[in-house]
Amino acid sequence: MSKPVTILGIESSCDDTAAAIIQDNRILSNVIANQKIHEQYGGVVPELASRAHQQNIVPVVDQAITQAGILKENISAIAFTRGPGLLGSLLVGVSFAKAFALGRNIPMIDVNHMQGHILAHFIKDKDGSYNMPDFPFLCLTVSGGHTQIIKITNHLEFELLGETIDDAAGEAFDKSAKILGLPYPGGPLIDKFAKEGNPKAFKFGKPKVDGLNFSFSGLKTSILYFIQKQKKYNPNFIEENKADICASIQHAIITVLMEKIEKAIQETGIKKVAIAGGVSANSELRKALLTLEKKGCKTYIPPFEYCTDNAAMIAITGYYKYLNNDFSKQDIAAQARLHI
Ligand code: KG4
Ligand code: ZN
Repeated sequence: MSKPVTILGIESSCDDTAAAIIQDNRILSNVIANQKIHEQYGGVVPELASRAHQQNIVPVVDQAITQAGILKENISAIAFTRGPGLLGSLLVGVSFAKAFALGRNIPMIDVNHMQGHILAHFIKDKDGSYNMPDFPFLCLTVSGGHTQIIKITNHLEFELLGETIDDAAGEAFDKSAKILGLPYPGGPLIDKFAKEGNPKAFKFGKPKVDGLNFSFSGLKTSILYFIQKQKKYNPNFIEENKADICASIQHAIITVLMEKIEKAIQETGIKKVAIAGGVSANSELRKALLTLEKKGCKTYIPPFEYCTDNAAMIAITGYYKYLNNDFSKQDIAAQARLHI
């Protein structure tokens, strides 16, 4: 039997320092250090994120290797996030990867963070089970920085069909949550409070954008004006209606996402649809996607641990690039803006 391919993945594009080990396409370990420091500022502070990555990266990698039960001598290559993301954060992962590759004399593989979110669907569980999409499929990638509809032809071929022209879906959740006085990141909190609320209680202006593109900045403004107006009549409006407001905001965002994905299905004739990225953890989006099954579509929803940022998705992308002999050189630089 041939030697297995063992990939160490590193992710440091935003405020999570993560490392994971994938052997062939099976997960062996997946470690994430969250940075709590940003909560008090209502958003990620790039300088603080970079500093925290520097503190976390070595212990996180060490833990990933130990938990995987392998030796660092077994690692075939190191995969790292090159971008998109915060430059100071990316730099820590890229520098670590360069030093590790040089020190161990192994190849390094640069990974596009958004590609990683999509390929997370190809990670085999420890027990070997997984629900792998068939090619070609459509993927709605929804995170804090991106909202895209992508056609995936094979593990390494992607076509961007549409994207947001302003805010990302995750940003729409987080900024709306901030208007309600909720801490960062507000997306999961809106999801939580919405469970008790009526999604039709309040109506917000619907964005009008052509084709498969998205726009969320108008929605955020419409929510802001609505809340300001209501608070004039009742200063306790938010507290008294929190669940209904959250459910209505969530409904507005998910409706836009679902309309565009259905349009993409119609236009491409591709009836296999996946979701990826932080917002794919949203319970309403997961439910809404499943309704497409009744319309003859096959749907793919990632396990929760692979929705928000993680290094397993970087390692699996590294694995497919490794099989394709797609390596990077030591002079590679981090890129804050990087297209898929
Ligand atoms: O993919 P991710 O971890 O980081 C980026 O690449 O941006 O996505 C983070 C985003 C945040 O905006 C967060 O609020 C959102 O995903 N998010 C959610 C949920 N969980 C995470 N939004 C809505 N509902 C959730 N359950
Ligand atoms: Zn992400």
